[in-house]
Amino acid sequence: MSASKPAAEAPSAGRGLVTGTRYAFVCRGPHCTRRDSRLLRDQLRDIVAARGTPDAVVSSYPCFGLCDDGPNAFVYPDAVWYSDLSQRDLEGLAEHLATGAPHVEKQVHPDVTLTENVIENIRESWDLMAKRAKRGFRLWPFGK
Ligand code: FES
Repeated sequence: MSASKPAAEAPSAGRGLVTGTRYAFVCRGPHCTRRDSRLLRDQLRDIVAARGTPDAVVSSYPCFGLCDDGPNAFVYPDAVWYSDLSQRDLEGLAEHLATGAPHVEKQVHPDVTLTENVIENIRESWDLMAKRAKRGFRLWPFGK
């Protein structure tokens, strides 16, 4: 993993992203998928739905470039990273989505540049999705 300085401050919501909503992007890249990241994403969705957390969205991301440390997830807009996720971490992650308090056991700190690039990619992709939705398309470029 690269340097260990976290982003200085959480970014504000941008474009199609909803202010006040917390998003968990779970990697669905090949290395993380091999370690059950898609299953973890779906189970996290179920937990969030069961808890009744309306201001939380669980989505996917193609690959964060932290493949050796997966399964990985990124919580936006808090700019909090998680690695080596397992089923045991899902309640903690759901708690983060509900309260904003990170699940510290699996938190990691990739370099600031990666964090900024991922945030910009999320914003651009969400904006693209919002434009497509206006034309009747429902495709999220990072998968469901
Ligand atoms: S496959 Fe998940 S970070 Fe690359």
